[in-house]
Amino acid sequence: MKTFLLSIIVVLSAITVSARLAPPKERELLRLPGTNRSACELIHQEDLPEECTCREPDAYGLVIECLKPFDSLYLNDTIGMKINLDPCNPDGSSLSLDVTEAEHNVDITIVGVKAGEQQNFPIPGLSVIVPTIGHLGVDVAVLIYGNPDRLSVKVGLNACMAAGPQHQYCASGIPGLSRVLPWYVLKGTYAFGDFCNSTNATSSLPALPLSDDIDAVAKFQ
Ligand SMILES: *[C@@H]1O[C@H](CO)[C@@H](O)[C@H](O)[C@H]1NC(C)=O
Ligand SMILES: *[C@@H]1O[C@H](CO)[C@@H](O)[C@H](O)[C@H]1NC(C)=O
Ligand SMILES: *[C@@H]1O[C@H](CO)[C@@H](O)[C@H](O)[C@H]1NC(C)=O
Ligand SMILES: *[C@@H]1O[C@H](CO)[C@@H](O)[C@H](O)[C@H]1NC(C)=O
Repeated sequence: MKTFLLSIIVVLSAITVSARLAPPKERELLRLPGTNRSACELIHQEDLPEECTCREPDAYGLVIECLKPFDSLYLNDTIGMKINLDPCNPDGSSLSLDVTEAEHNVDITIVGVKAGEQQNFPIPGLSVIVPTIGHLGVDVAVLIYGNPDRLSVKVGLNACMAAGPQHQYCASGIPGLSRVLPWYVLKGTYAFGDFCNSTNATSSLPALPLSDDIDAVAKFQ
């Protein structure tokens, strides 16, 4: 009987330990009304191009993966894109990208584009030829602006050529080509404030009990 009880205790404590070791699903547990929308819901995943999917590998952001076949006289190629959006980064919202293209064996990684930046990253070797105009280099176009409460993000592919020192001539201004490019994966202003604040709260401890505890500790010191 004693050994039986003992083994029950051992089993029970093993269960407790494994429950403690199991990865916590804290965000789900502590979701408050109105703060329960996932990162993919917040970027309106239903509006993503059909070649793209959104997933949430961790509690802090999202990953969008696309495999976009272009089948036109201008661009006949398949471009893969992986966007890692990190809206809640305490150093400022940021995103990273991985772009692949098979024909020219391109695989470029762009890390840590921070809020406040707008950049075009040329895809080496890839251009669009437009008769009487010339070659337009294909770029990964990235804009990220604002803060988690109001984060504007634009990520996609575009084709542009320099037209004088200050000007660019881009695909949207060229009839025919404008039906192919630009192609945007994300283009909008998103509200991550609640999401980030609840992620923040749960990545340490719940906000209110913690501050009470701190007060209590302070009083006793
Ligand atoms: C979020 O919570 C509301 C009610 O608080 C509920 O109606 C809604 O279905 C929830 N959404 C998700 C994705 O859990
Ligand atoms: C794109 O390339 C494929 C194979 O290389 C070819 O069969 C197809 O006709 C091309 N499409 C266009 C619009 O040029
Ligand atoms: C998350 O918490 C950190 C540290 O407390 C803070 O600096 C940051 O602004 C918070 N992020 C958001 C989105 O509230
Ligand atoms: C999230 O917390 C930050 C810092 O405390 C605050 O400025 C922001 O307004 C909050 N956002 C929302 C949607 O509650």
